[in-house]
Amino acid sequence: MRQVSSRKEMMDLTQEFYNAFKVAPESLYRAPARINLIGEHIDYNGGRVLPAAISCYIKALVSKRDDTIISAYSTNTKSGYSIDLNRIKYDKANGWCNYVFGVFQTLRLAGYHIPFGLNILINSEIPLGSGLSSSAALLDLVTYVANDIYNLGISLKNIAKLAQNCENSFCGLRCGIMDEASIALGLRDKCLLLDCAKYEYEYIDLDLGDYTFVVMKTNVPRSLVSSKYNDRVDECQKGLRAIQQDFNVDNLCELHEEDLLRVEKLIGDELIYRRVRHVITENERVRKFVRALRSKNIEELGRILNASHKSLKEDYEVTGEYLDAIQEAAIYAGAIGARMTGAGFGGCAIALIKKSSFEEFKEKVIDYYFKKVQLEPDVFNVDIVDGPMKVEDY
Ligand code: GLA
Repeated sequence: MRQVSSRKEMMDLTQEFYNAFKVAPESLYRAPARINLIGEHIDYNGGRVLPAAISCYIKALVSKRDDTIISAYSTNTKSGYSIDLNRIKYDKANGWCNYVFGVFQTLRLAGYHIPFGLNILINSEIPLGSGLSSSAALLDLVTYVANDIYNLGISLKNIAKLAQNCENSFCGLRCGIMDEASIALGLRDKCLLLDCAKYEYEYIDLDLGDYTFVVMKTNVPRSLVSSKYNDRVDECQKGLRAIQQDFNVDNLCELHEEDLLRVEKLIGDELIYRRVRHVITENERVRKFVRALRSKNIEELGRILNASHKSLKEDYEVTGEYLDAIQEAAIYAGAIGARMTGAGFGGCAIALIKKSSFEEFKEKVIDYYFKKVQLEPDVFNVDIVDGPMKVEDY
């Protein structure tokens, strides 16, 4: 995975900007992707999660317009659409541009004054539908750009919240706050311990000595909105309603492992119980993981990663053939532990490995995975990086 843009690439992008809008760009911004180390599918259940921003970027070249048009163009899809700020509505035909237009609509509905339009060229190296949060990165980036250009004075924490509102209300995915927050609040060499019920966070050093996290991409893309994501949100809500007869809680993550017996009786339905069991045990795994991270207990980190994958596979059923194959491949190739990351249903997994074993690990993962599913995966190193920023003015 490429990590820094060369001068030549920037010149090409500037040229593409000119071709698309017939004016020169004024500023360049970027936002990172994210991985989630532990705490999967619990952000929308009031749990604690532990993501980190990674060195894989989406960029925006921007110039101001003197009318009220937002004009967006993507160098990835080679497509673009324009919309008047006063007439924004979701339209399937606008494809990925809904994520750009939706941000402006969300800001306006929140009462922010957007006095003029923009030309925005988007260039992304974050693979779509890969579980690395390409959509949250785009939403955070555009919100960050608008905040900067219109001087809206929005904090990074609220940029994430507005971007999530946009994804929920405008784009139709009932996701939690994890992705938008992990990107907006990203900090170099730190992971973010995020309490999704209170929307509070603290940073934890990601200092693993001779060990590192690597990303493995199954190369099976999926679309979140059309996937079973919203079904899982419904199943959890069903579980919550059932246990609320007896437990005075607002979120599933207020429950503990010792409540499981009572929870099972109250829920009755076997499938819903398994979903809830994943949520409760995963939240507990986050606590244990943080403890292991602080005491640098690498073996324990590995065990927790594997247990998380198993729970996502058997109880939550969001892994599937390809993510299971790549997790197995990682263990076969010598990882201390591995698990899917993000929403699942395809996308990426992460593995904890010894830094010095990277090349051998990569080769073995590719070999094992290919034999199992006849697809080439990508295996790459990432740095843990800062959140969105303005890179330069022209
Ligand atoms: C997606 C969502 C997040 C979170 C993860 C699963 O990435 O956008 O809010 O629910 O799935 O942990």
